[in-house]
Amino acid sequence: MRTYLVTGGAGFIGSNFIHYLFGKYGDSIRVINVDKLTYAGNLENLRDVSGRENYTFIRADICDADAIGEIFRDNDISRVVHFAAESHVDRSIRDPGVFVRTNVLGTLVMLNAARAAWERPDGSYPEDHRFLHVSTDEVYGSLSEPDTYFYETTKYDPHSPYSASKASSDFMVKAYMDTYGFPANITNCSNNYGPYQFPEKLIPLMINNALNGRKLPVYGDGLNVRDWLYVEDHCKGIDLVMEKGTLGETYNIGGHNERQNIVIVKTIISTLRDMLPDSDPRKANVTEDLITYVADRKGHDRRYAIAPDKIRKEVGWYPETTFEDGIRKTIGWYFANPEWMEHVTSGAYQTYYKEMYSE
Ligand code: NAD
Ligand code: TYD
Repeated sequence: MRTYLVTGGAGFIGSNFIHYLFGKYGDSIRVINVDKLTYAGNLENLRDVSGRENYTFIRADICDADAIGEIFRDNDISRVVHFAAESHVDRSIRDPGVFVRTNVLGTLVMLNAARAAWERPDGSYPEDHRFLHVSTDEVYGSLSEPDTYFYETTKYDPHSPYSASKASSDFMVKAYMDTYGFPANITNCSNNYGPYQFPEKLIPLMINNALNGRKLPVYGDGLNVRDWLYVEDHCKGIDLVMEKGTLGETYNIGGHNERQNIVIVKTIISTLRDMLPDSDPRKANVTEDLITYVADRKGHDRRYAIAPDKIRKEVGWYPETTFEDGIRKTIGWYFANPEWMEHVTSGAYQTYYKEMYSE
């Protein structure tokens, strides 16, 4: 039975990916989720898979070489999907050090552990073993000319401590592929949205604030552009690259869905108004009066936009969810799971681990 090691599986995209894997492969695979459970890790995201016999959660720090080495020695792992990272740009501006530790050193630990477990004495690797490093389009920097896009060949030009740390980790993966013939791929994806996203990121923050009648803080002039992708489409892209991609290659993932931040915020307001019944007392507060322009983010990248030509051509990936459907699904998910948001905002989600694992 094929065993996946997923790092950062208790976070937003990692937990969606674990759901995706079980949805697609069911009982024919095993999944080991390794997560440190920082503020961004939430085991409530995995409540419905936690009882499966083919799912194991291990609380560990990816910077802990002994713990990670032991996981590889104890398990016959042939797929690594590496999500674990510090992921929020604003936090990286306040405290870059933890981003270098987890994103750069943690990735190095993962590469060393996989190489030690997989490399044969003659330097070759078993045919079906793969390491997929999940990265971001932010490594390419900011686009200033209209109708220009990020290609896999675009020069890296990171600006924030977050994107600089992800760029460094990408280069380390590339170095392992070039130096040791290490069997890896890198995917660079645009901004994700969907269920289980921590409300420090634009879309869940705006949904939560609007529902609570709180101000909607838009940075700068609100005209920065991000290229939004529904998280399930990202998960499908990662799986397809692992199954059909050429080892050693990088694939950009994005669905040509560029929107200005202010347009996103206004779409959230109108969709909330459309979806809330008139009898819901929150509805009256959800208006554009909540929008407040605040000081701009330092070094704020103006525009990101992915050219997904290579992933479409080589592995047949395309996004299935339009933004109009995706935002309704996302808002519908937050409506259906008010206790998830309540636990995240109150901090109660952090006690779930103690209850589950009696620590
Ligand atoms: P997230 O912040 O929601 O989750 C990160 C997870 O990693 C958490 O569960 C956290 O507990 C865990 N983690 C952090 N430090 C760790 C450590 N030292 N050891 C073990 N686990 C640790 O992040 P996300 O939005 O799900 O992003 C996942 C990956 O995808 C990241 O590598 C990110 O760079 C990349 N990415 C994110 C986006 C996006 O829009 N969110 C877009 C492209 C790429
Ligand atoms: P974010 O979700 O933090 O993702 P990233 O910075 O990785 O792209 O932010 C998306 C965009 O929204 C970005 O241009 C910053 C902006 N933004 C706001 O205007 N207000 C907010 O409160 C947040 C969190 C983000």
